Order: sequence, then C-alpha cells, then structure tokens
Amino acid sequence: KRRISIAIDGPAAAGKSTVAKQIAKRLSYVYIDTGAMYRALTYRALACGVDIHDEQALLLLLRDTSIELKPSPHGQIVLVNGEDVTDIIRNEAVTNAVSFVAKHPLVREEMVARQRALAEGGGVVMDGRDIGTHVLPNAEVKIFLKASVDERARRRHEENLARGFPSDLEKLKEEIARRDRLDSERETAPLRKAPDAVEIDTTSLSVEEVAERIMEIVNERI
Ligand code: C5P
Repeated sequence: KRRISIAIDGPAAAGKSTVAKQIAKRLSYVYIDTGAMYRALTYRALACGVDIHDEQALLLLLRDTSIELKPSPHGQIVLVNGEDVTDIIRNEAVTNAVSFVAKHPLVREEMVARQRALAEGGGVVMDGRDIGTHVLPNAEVKIFLKASVDERARRRHEENLARGFPSDLEKLKEEIARRDRLDSERETAPLRKAPDAVEIDTTSLSVEEVAERIMEIVNERI
C-alpha cells in the first residue's frame, strides 16, 4: 500500500487533532499538528517580549526557534528549542495571540516550508487551516471538518474540565468565534475548504464516527 498524505482542515476546536491522531494511529502514519507550530512561535514571542504585530521581528525569532513535534503515548509532545511546551502553548495568552502571529506572510512562508519538509515522502496526517489549500495541495485525501460554534465550545469546555483546567463556556464561545473570524478573514492562506476537500459536519457525530468516515475515504484512495 502506498503511503499517502491526509490533510485535515477546519475551524478552531472542530475536533481536528483528536480525529487526526486516531487516523494516524490506525495507519501508523505521522501526525503533524501545524497549529502547535504557530502556537510555539507565539509562546516564544510572548516569552521574549517580541511584538506579535512586528513581522520582521517574528521572522527573526522563528529562524532562531526549533520546533519539534514528537509522538507520545498521549498524542504529541511539542518541544521549542528543546523545552517541553506541550501544555503551555494551549493557555489563554497564547490562544488569544496566535491568530495575529499566524497572519504574517513571512511567518507563514517559513512555517509552510517546514511543514512540507515534515510531510516529504507521505505517510502523514496533517491538521490545520490551510493544509488542503496551500501546504499540501496534492494531498490524496482532504477533509474539512466543521461543527457549530456552540458544539465546539461545549466540547472544549468538557475537555478543559476533564483536565482540571478552569473553563468558562461563554468565554470559550467568544474566543472560538473571534479566532474563526481572524483566521478566515486574513489575506494570506485564510481558513477555507479546498474545492476538492470532503466536508464533514461533526456536530452530531462521535469521534469514532468521524474517524470511520475518513477511513472509508482513505481506503478508497490508498
Ligand atoms: O489548530 P489550533 O487551534 O491549535 O491553531 C492555532 C492557530 O494557529 C489558529 O487559530 C490559526 O491562527 C493558526 N494556524 C494557521 N494555519 C494552520 C494552523 C494553525 O494559521 N495551518
């Protein structure tokens, strides 16, 4: 069987990473969380006091930032210059700043180059906002996951509570809607469904049902 590339895009908290990890596990593929890469740079910018609106400064910082995505029994570990930032890149400060960092064309150019290098040779499941449209336009399988804002906020809320993190459902709804707006309205590689992507509305589906549907599509093309 050939080792293909699978692109999974969609808005914030649509369940992309949960499903992508499952698919990668079933196929013994590598899972690449591109959102974690933008979050990692954002974390560094905040830690170093670099202005998130200063494109040149961010580019210089990125060139000085190694980002490693390592598989772990629980999914994935993110290392920034060797430091484990897996949990801290999900915090509120990073989440609220990341869409500003990710809108700069030069930042995206460097990130996309790194992402393509990681996907070389196939056997990858990559999730993000622009994977099917820009990063891997030739991906054999392209999926666009969507769900209502209410449902996405509810899921993220339960995830937070299960992890013992503080969580406010109304604030989550606002944060998710705001991030969707910034990600879809930016000029460079905005959040879009690729014309050849299969759209799946996950609002009333379980993770297993979504994974099952994607596996059917994968098995047709593998
Ligand atoms: O997927 P996640 O929610 O962790 O992504 C965090 C942010 O990174 C997104 O809101 C978006 O601004 C940015 N991002 C992006 N392109 C990608 C993946 C993420 O612009 N391929």
